[in-house]
Amino acid sequence: MEIELSNLGMKYGQTQVFSELNARLTSGGLIGLLGPNGAGKSTLIKLLTTLAKPTTGDVRLNGDSIISKPNNMRKLLGYLPQQVPFYPNLTATEYLTYIASIKGISNKDARIQSDALLHQVNLANTGNKQLKDFSGGMQQRVGIAATLLGDPQVIIADEPSTGLDPEERVTLRNLFAELASERLVIISTHIVSDIEAIADDLLILNQGQFMYHGSPNELLKQSDGYVWEYSLSEHENTANNRSDQMSSALISLIQGAQSIKVRQITARIDEQNAHAVTPTLEEAYIGVLNGVIKL
Ligand SMILES: Nc1ncnc2c1ncn2[C@@H]1O[C@H](COP(=O)(O)OP(=O)(O)OP(=O)(O)O)[C@@H](O)[C@H]1O
Ligand SMILES: [Mg+2]
Repeated sequence: MEIELSNLGMKYGQTQVFSELNARLTSGGLIGLLGPNGAGKSTLIKLLTTLAKPTTGDVRLNGDSIISKPNNMRKLLGYLPQQVPFYPNLTATEYLTYIASIKGISNKDARIQSDALLHQVNLANTGNKQLKDFSGGMQQRVGIAATLLGDPQVIIADEPSTGLDPEERVTLRNLFAELASERLVIISTHIVSDIEAIADDLLILNQGQFMYHGSPNELLKQSDGYVWEYSLSEHENTANNRSDQMSSALISLIQGAQSIKVRQITARIDEQNAHAVTPTLEEAYIGVLNGVIKL
């Protein structure tokens, strides 16, 4: 399974969200689409899911344009929108049966799959509860179950971890990682930890461009030498108020017993006691977004 974007561009009126996006995405490993608010993640996903047409360029699924043949994508697709549609008076099972019927799944299969999927998203035995009585995170998980009805071979989820608590985030990460081993799975997020442990392929979208496309490990390798650590005594810190002079997005302060440890993302540093440390993926991402880490 392969999706190819070529010279893909999208405008809303006069607003150019992106132009000239090119990438080849393949099954057999989770694809993480990472970018800050407003980067264009949902817009790109709407093009991939055939909900909107690009202004320029093409998207091909296994070689065929999904713009001229959207059904090729729709047949294989499970899509989780950023805002999951909400039917307050339906029970979880009724909602899943309804979505299953749209997908052309028989009633009997719908029932079997709904039970199994509710179990997978940790909502077993809640099928008879009305959606309005679910918490936000539980509603999100019903949405994820709906996405997976019919065992889609292409799964595209727009910020699936929205509203989930840490434990459910882990469950969801594991579920997507497992699904991705044999399917084409794309997850968008603005939170690095959502995809850090599971993405095999990472796309960083910012200001209408892919700033990075490759494995998380390769990004870490390329970010080597950009993260520095040094200590400040408390006295030094308050006397000079040095943290105010540094760009707050590019440093983190860790309070220790005697001193404050500073981690700073920068290409060059004047601090005498600074030493280069191994970057985290989040630091690499911030460095790339801010143009400090040049790839
Ligand atoms: N229907 C629309 N009409 C006009 N402008 C839009 C529309 N949808 C999105 N935009 C604009 O396109 C840009 C990208 O928005 P998009 O929703 O794709 O970003 P995103 O990366 O998904 O952000 P978030 O992390 O907040 O979900 C933003 O500047 C937004 O204001
Ligand atoms: Mg979005």
